[in-house]
Amino acid sequence: MSLPRLASDQISQLDCAQLGRKLKEAFLKEPTGAAGVFSGKQVRRAEVEALIGSQSIKDLTVLGIFETCPGDGLTSRFAVRHVLRKVLVTDHPKSRFRDEALIVDPLWEGPALARMMPNRRRRLSLDLGTGCGILALVLAQWSDHVIASDINPRALAMGDLNARLNSVDNISFVHSDLFEALEGQRFDQIVFNAPVGTEFRPRHMLEAGEFILETFFKAMPHHLADNGVVQLNLCFRDWPNDSFVGRMRSWMGPTKPAFGSVLLRLWKRSSGLKFLFEKALEAISAGPGALSCEAVSRGIITLMRSPVPTHTEIDVNYHQWPPQPSIGHVGEAIVAAIETGHDHSLRNLLRSLEKTSST
Ligand SMILES: C[S@@+](CC[C@H](N)C(=O)[O-])C[C@H]1O[C@@H](n2cnc3c(N)ncnc32)[C@H](O)[C@@H]1O
Repeated sequence: MSLPRLASDQISQLDCAQLGRKLKEAFLKEPTGAAGVFSGKQVRRAEVEALIGSQSIKDLTVLGIFETCPGDGLTSRFAVRHVLRKVLVTDHPKSRFRDEALIVDPLWEGPALARMMPNRRRRLSLDLGTGCGILALVLAQWSDHVIASDINPRALAMGDLNARLNSVDNISFVHSDLFEALEGQRFDQIVFNAPVGTEFRPRHMLEAGEFILETFFKAMPHHLADNGVVQLNLCFRDWPNDSFVGRMRSWMGPTKPAFGSVLLRLWKRSSGLKFLFEKALEAISAGPGALSCEAVSRGIITLMRSPVPTHTEIDVNYHQWPPQPSIGHVGEAIVAAIETGHDHSLRNLLRSLEKTSST
């Protein structure tokens, strides 16, 4: 069975915006009921009708999101979520198609990354690997224009529909392998929730492996405006005498001015039976080099040009963070830490957030 397709050109912008409003209302009024309708399980048409009305059912069916089932039931072929005040259509998290190449990220880490973004006014921003478009839709709030690009055409179709559902009209969706179709363009803000997983060997479009980071960092300095900021959610490995941050700087080459960076490290796996077992398993598929891997980490790295090349690492745990503070709070503190070369305020802010989340 293949992944479902959207027929997003089948309804007008006006109808799409109206549908988006109806869906938001349903999520606000009955969050669990609406989540249940879009969980992928079969639901009774009458229940759905009470929640979103018959016109919305019709529109969602035309779009290829709803499928009718025998016995007057409906099932949603896509997940629809209400995140950061936006309705977003994407693939189901437990999709049976997880290993298919064209799967679209079911919003695993996008919402956390969205909350980490600095939010000062920008002219042109880029959401690389946009998936269902969540980061582009948030960037669009403070950017004159956003380019949202992906190598996956299914993602672009979803992103485009999501922009229309949320009545956002300052995003262009562009098919591109990293920066390939963006030749000569420079951006004030770049975000990249990178398709890198813990496995050494990539399995699908959500896990391209480290080579994608190498290609990204080699090209990025040519695409970043002078006062621009870059943010990546990434997974990386450290080897003996060869740290990821060292490799990243060598990929970027000699830049003037250099870059300052802050890495919020979400976790680091460097010991324990599970880690040793994973290394041994990877050695079978990825070769014996995997055995010398010292640590696998995941984190969010932010970079900006800075007269003093600094690098700060802070351990955090974003899964425990509450939905507050608002978007921009942490991102702006990161930017200030790079600009001033002092990270006390950022550390204090992060400490206060961890306290709030554990109470
Ligand atoms: C982890 S997902 C992030 C999706 C979305 N930005 C989010 O935060 O939910 C990574 C995205 O990168 C895309 N991708 C993978 N390889 C790519 C490439 N070479 N060029 C552009 N996008 C790529 C995938 O299709 C996927 O949509």
